[in-house]
Amino acid sequence: MQAIIVHAGAWDIPEDRIEAHKNACLRAVGAGWKVLNSGGPAVEAVERAINVFEEDPEIDSGRGSGLNAAGEVEMDASIMNGTTFEAGAVAAVRNVLHPISLAREVMHKSEHVLLVGEGASRFAIEVGFPTCRPEELITERERKKWEEHLREKAHAVPIRNVQRDTVGAVALDASGTIVAGTSTGGTPLKQPGRVGDSPIIGCGTYADSSAGGVSCSGRGENIIKVVLAKTVIDLLGENGGDPQRAAEEGIDRLYRKVNGTGGVIVIAAGGKIGFAFNTRRFARGYFSSGMPHPIVVV
Ligand code: GLY
Repeated sequence: MQAIIVHAGAWDIPEDRIEAHKNACLRAVGAGWKVLNSGGPAVEAVERAINVFEEDPEIDSGRGSGLNAAGEVEMDASIMNGTTFEAGAVAAVRNVLHPISLAREVMHKSEHVLLVGEGASRFAIEVGFPTCRPEELITERERKKWEEHLREKAHAVPIRNVQRDTVGAVALDASGTIVAGTSTGGTPLKQPGRVGDSPIIGCGTYADSSAGGVSCSGRGENIIKVVLAKTVIDLLGENGGDPQRAAEEGIDRLYRKVNGTGGVIVIAAGGKIGFAFNTRRFARGYFSSGMPHPIVVV
């Protein structure tokens, strides 16, 4: 049994961007499935799927990330292997197109789990990871939005009301290993140096191959407070392994405890898929052994 589920964010995705989100989800599922179907490992499938989103200027991760209050891109990502419990993460990085791949390098080539900012950039150079100029990640759309916000003094709009993407993937490979990963440009207009849930293991990402894997989207400040990814894994353990119920109860808890909004994707040990969200839309796609074709919904 192999399975993959991806998401490109839980938020009020505007009508004119729905097709682009569907398209990105379909291509991400395809990239991950290609790895799984040829017997490749879940870690590779998750990285390849997320790379598709990071390269897509329509999506808030990698190129296309929302800009912070200073007009800069600062990205967060994490990845976790649910069999070995290895994990890697980066936060507030500014000069790589693929933060999820740098997180994988942290997992495999450092003695640490989370590297941030300048330290993460130095590590990238040390291990020969491809870097880019921060400006290369800034799209015209995001620059214009940032300028509009400045003009309208939209700082008056509470940052907690600014929603955007975040992308993620969870995959189960033929060996039974489940890997989860998440990557994001974070909340637009955030304070420089702000770190959300996505690079924090247990909050934005968690995997335990004996139970399942989870990736989250939504406002990081709320997700962190309920340790959402690990909470959903614990709920899976308590409910006999039903990923749909665990996802729904996780989102319910996010709302009840901290008034939070967002979405989660889940694969349970054995390959069952679940997802839940309490935002207007949640861009997602999935495919598993035995399905005739991938399903993508925004
Ligand atoms: N969930 C992404 C963030 O809050 O940064």
